[in-house]
Amino acid sequence: MPMTPPTLTDLISLAHQAGEILRTSFGQILQVDHKGIIDLVSDADLRSEQFLVSHILEHYPGDTIMAEESGKHMGTADHAWYIDPLDGTVNYVHGLPIYSVSIGYAEGSQMRLGVVYDPSRDETFSAQLGKGAWLNGQPIHPSSTSDLDHAFLNTGFPYDIRTNPDNNLDHYAYFATHSQAVRRLGSAALELCYVGCGRFDGYWELWVKSWDVAAGGLIAQEAGAKVTNIRGGADFISPPQSILAANPLLHPLMLNGLNR
Ligand code: IPD
Ligand code: CA
Ligand code: CA
Repeated sequence: MPMTPPTLTDLISLAHQAGEILRTSFGQILQVDHKGIIDLVSDADLRSEQFLVSHILEHYPGDTIMAEESGKHMGTADHAWYIDPLDGTVNYVHGLPIYSVSIGYAEGSQMRLGVVYDPSRDETFSAQLGKGAWLNGQPIHPSSTSDLDHAFLNTGFPYDIRTNPDNNLDHYAYFATHSQAVRRLGSAALELCYVGCGRFDGYWELWVKSWDVAAGGLIAQEAGAKVTNIRGGADFISPPQSILAANPLLHPLMLNGLNR
């Protein structure tokens, strides 16, 4: 018997339940371990992921799951879930309320559903392939800023910033001196959604992981932003992942900046 595929409502419900796990522990003393010198994992990451993965394994047993903390759970069906149980861990453990739960669902190589939930603001970003993107159920659209000088941008840096020569500081310096401003919020999934709803004009990052960008990339795309890797190719999910999301007027200008 083929499994019934998940609906967007199913993903939203899952993201809300995982978000509640995070919200409940926010600001409390956490068990924090170091995956690297600046790369953290807390017990809240693990509890959120355990909830999501066990639910998917129970209800969609043939599906593959790419989850940040427990890695790849190989399924038999051609369906894959991309789970970041807590995007913005460094913010979260410092008590900075900028973090999210990110859930993407793909059939074959095509992302079909994406949800990013921000528990602090109770903002639910969602998208369905070919149907659009929404913030708390209302359609969202990118900005129309058409020149770099007035563009409000956002980026992020890899956890191996100290040792990786391709650590994005060169691009940061370029855009910081050619745009209105460049922020670094610390949750790639939310930053992509913010391009989708026009809060930012553009966002780029190198060395992201599939679970960081799967859901937010679809949300930005379905909202009407152009989303590619930093070379302009369509694939921002396969390694080595990089991403550039911007309103369609700005995207070519940022692409030039990244490949100057
Ligand atoms: C990180 C955040 C950050 C980005 C890093 C990600 P995490 O995810 O999205 O903004 O710059 O590339 O790894 O570790 O908080 O889930
Ligand atoms: Ca992440
Ligand atoms: Ca994470």
